Amino acid sequence: MMRVLAIDQGTTSTRAFVVDGGGNRVVHAVEHRQFYPAPGHVEHDPEELIANIEACIAAAGEVDCAGIDNQGESCLAWDAATGRAITPVIVWQDDRTADACEALKAKGLESLVRERAGLPLDPYFSASKLGWIMENCAEARELAAQSRLRLGTTDAFFRDRLTGVFATDPTTASRTSLMNLTTCSWDPELCEIFGVPLEALPPILPTCGELGTLKNGAKLTASIVDQQAALFGHGARLPGHAKITFGTGAFALALTDRLEGGSPLLPTIAWSESNGATMYALDGGVYSASSAVNWAKKLGLWSTTAELDHFEREPAVSRGLVFVPALSGLAAPHWDRSARGAWMGLGLDTTPSDMVQAVLEGVAFRVAEVIAEMEKSVAILPPISIDGGMSRNPWFCQFVADVLGRPVRVSDEPELTALGCAQLAARGAGHDLPSEPAGRIIEPRPIPADWFATFAAARDAVQGYRQRG
Ligand code: G3P
Repeated sequence: MMRVLAIDQGTTSTRAFVVDGGGNRVVHAVEHRQFYPAPGHVEHDPEELIANIEACIAAAGEVDCAGIDNQGESCLAWDAATGRAITPVIVWQDDRTADACEALKAKGLESLVRERAGLPLDPYFSASKLGWIMENCAEARELAAQSRLRLGTTDAFFRDRLTGVFATDPTTASRTSLMNLTTCSWDPELCEIFGVPLEALPPILPTCGELGTLKNGAKLTASIVDQQAALFGHGARLPGHAKITFGTGAFALALTDRLEGGSPLLPTIAWSESNGATMYALDGGVYSASSAVNWAKKLGLWSTTAELDHFEREPAVSRGLVFVPALSGLAAPHWDRSARGAWMGLGLDTTPSDMVQAVLEGVAFRVAEVIAEMEKSVAILPPISIDGGMSRNPWFCQFVADVLGRPVRVSDEPELTALGCAQLAARGAGHDLPSEPAGRIIEPRPIPADWFATFAAARDAVQGYRQRG
């Protein structure tokens, strides 16, 4: 059997995952620093990420091929002549461009952006971040004047530095708001709208195939957004197969064989192969999932994970206590960056355990909103496959199944993102790795309909909060 390396470069860590005859395993994992230099700003150090990826490659030893998955919308600028980053990575969570997006909305440009790129005007996506760099970084403008500027998502920076090939793939490009989803090419008018020089953007190559050679001689044969890698790792091959990954945020994707327009969710590219075959997905994200749970820990509401695996009392929502996890605003299907998190229904009898129970429930309710919206466009095939840190909590998984009202499969494999990336890398090298989705099925239990109304009332109440403040 071939030996395949997947490098999973996510929002909090970089992991090296090896698939070979000896089983699948993580051979290296390292967290990187998160920088919050101003309210709403979230940054990573590009050199730290490159060093972590290089450590992953070294730890894996000799491999036949390698794949890399990326954080999606996070992006930066660098110098074409030296490869040196001239900005930090501006992370997908960063909302410094909220006002810029509002200004574009006020000019009536949202429908055009939606029509071409499939995405709403929101600071989540890379376009406004790259536009911010052009406006605020004098060095970027100087390099652009000398035709030496490179702008791109993190994958393009990594590939440029690790293989010498400046390129991105359609899955990542589809998260920028600069790619025309129908033609899978950069759209000059969108670039103009966001103030991004098209000539500084990378060529868009297929997700899998011969993409370049790493310094250790291994072929890079896949490069993809981490959520799409996870979708592949979950075994999604047919339209309607769906997964939810509960990481920093929670991201639901359903596989489709055509672009699903007209939904407040996000039509996106699932993967493309060098023979031209392309699959699509409909995506819906919740910005805060385990980040909300970890935040609750920092507040002192819980200390050991065992406290979250089981709750003595009935669900908090049944007692009128609700948490809306809008700590970074509300993503799909509301797209409201001004919303903020809140508990509603606190009383003198509320305990820290009740409050954290409500946090877990709030994440599940938000995901249920996304899946309900998704169902309007895609016939989702049961079960929905779930993974990520929170899927190791049996109480949470049961609550998710209950509010989704459908069976969920909790995968046995904890590294589905990396597994999907490895499977795609093998495919890019002309081989197929076995992929048998396996896991525990959890059946939903009936729940009172008024729980949804209770949650929706609280969510309504936090929308538009900052404008009112
Ligand atoms: O859209 C952002 C998402 O792809 C980030 O995922 O796993 O890096 O938190 P993760």
